[in-house]
Amino acid sequence: MAADYIVKDISLAAFGRKELDIAETEMPGLMALRAEYGEEKPLKGARIVGSLHMTIQTACLIETLVALGADVRWASCNIFSTQDHAAAAIAAGDIPVFAIKGQSLEEHWDYLDKSFMFPEGPNMILDDGGDATLYVLLGARAEAGEDIIPVPQSEEEEVIKAQIKKRMEASPGWFTKTRDAIMGVSEETTTGVHRLYELQKNGQLPFPAINVNDSVTKSKFDNKYGCKESLVDGIRRATDTMMAGKVAVVCGYGDVGKGSAASLQGAGARVKVTEADPICALQAAMDGFEVVLLEEALDADIFITTTGNKDIIRIEHMREMKDMAIVGNIGHFDNEIQVASLKNHKWTNIKEQVDMIEMPSGNRMILLSEGRLLNLGNATGHPSFVMSASFTNQVLAQIELFQRGDQYKNEVYILPKHLDEKVAALHLDRVGAKLTKLTTEQASYIGVTPEGPFKPEHYRY
Ligand code: NAI
Repeated sequence: MAADYIVKDISLAAFGRKELDIAETEMPGLMALRAEYGEEKPLKGARIVGSLHMTIQTACLIETLVALGADVRWASCNIFSTQDHAAAAIAAGDIPVFAIKGQSLEEHWDYLDKSFMFPEGPNMILDDGGDATLYVLLGARAEAGEDIIPVPQSEEEEVIKAQIKKRMEASPGWFTKTRDAIMGVSEETTTGVHRLYELQKNGQLPFPAINVNDSVTKSKFDNKYGCKESLVDGIRRATDTMMAGKVAVVCGYGDVGKGSAASLQGAGARVKVTEADPICALQAAMDGFEVVLLEEALDADIFITTTGNKDIIRIEHMREMKDMAIVGNIGHFDNEIQVASLKNHKWTNIKEQVDMIEMPSGNRMILLSEGRLLNLGNATGHPSFVMSASFTNQVLAQIELFQRGDQYKNEVYILPKHLDEKVAALHLDRVGAKLTKLTTEQASYIGVTPEGPFKPEHYRY
């Protein structure tokens, strides 16, 4: 039988395995789940389609899902984020994976399709950004003769439509059958969660969903502390530019923006922030950042978008930037920067995921990862430790949906607080943190129990 994987170079598997061994020492949450559930195998019978950056950390997630009994097929959710040695290690372990760093958009959607091809069909989705969910839902709509446009990332519209058409021709009725077999989806990121709530609002969510992003131990850690380490890592690997003394603009001061601004500040840059939300703008100001309009800050050296919104850095902004300004995005999709509007300009490729673009004025701009998330395109994403917290939530969400999905409505849920606290607790030892035990009297005085949960639902951290 032909190998059931597409990776760049299977001989990278040994290197991938060595890095995986190191990652395991930094992913205590995932390792604890293996110890707790490895025998019971609560995911036995789960056939999980994974669409999430195929990195070393994700490899550790995949092997945890398998250790808990699941069958897994995997694609990356971004064309630049795969670590080829991680993909090779997973393929070498006989887990089907379809991911190459630098794959084309056509390959991206074809690989996603391949990740659905369990002989008995999939019954679970683990998504990052919502592409796997989108694929099934758009396909099912197409099979019902409904219009499937517009899709959120419009520049990919034609590619997605072509892939859906190909699958419809090869296997009539496949999308509807697959949609109906899915017991639930767990979603990793802010942008994907936004899509799920939209589906719920429009009565179009066909299965229960768990919003992993809004576990406190995900968005307040991965989005923030993760970006704090990985943003500057990406800029440095791409450009080797001196960060200290430079002026950087961070567009958006949500969780990712907070981590990104801290990352640049920690590297010595003078950071300005743009925001649309007065609460986040005030937070930025009181964290010591100048809050400006982008139009007033176009003489900066580095521009980073973190909004999850579109058209943040537009062509008229890029035209005003100084020579050799660095422009990149760390939000989920590439539409934060109007990259399409640069297509007619002169592009010089410096190296993978780094391009120099000449503007009509003669000024040049360094664009990272073609506007796709640069911490994964130009570096290796977040460190293992913080991804362990995110992925521990993912595994708990998969167990919950697979075992008790029938008790949920077709709505979006967040994991209960005691599990959020459990995820955090599993990560304390590794950083030498000791937890104070409340006395019964103290617990009752603040209205909790000594075992937790320690905060009411409305608490914001
Ligand atoms: P968030 O909602 O906490 O923050 C986004 C902020 O951008 C909000 O405060 C919003 O007011 C602001 N904003 C929106 N439009 C704006 C505009 N035109 N100008 C200035 N500010 C604007 O979302 P979060 O969690 O920070 O995520 C942001 C993006 O990053 C999402 O696409 C998410 O999926 C992605 N993400 C990327 C990660 C990575 O490793 N690269 C990790 C986690 C999330």
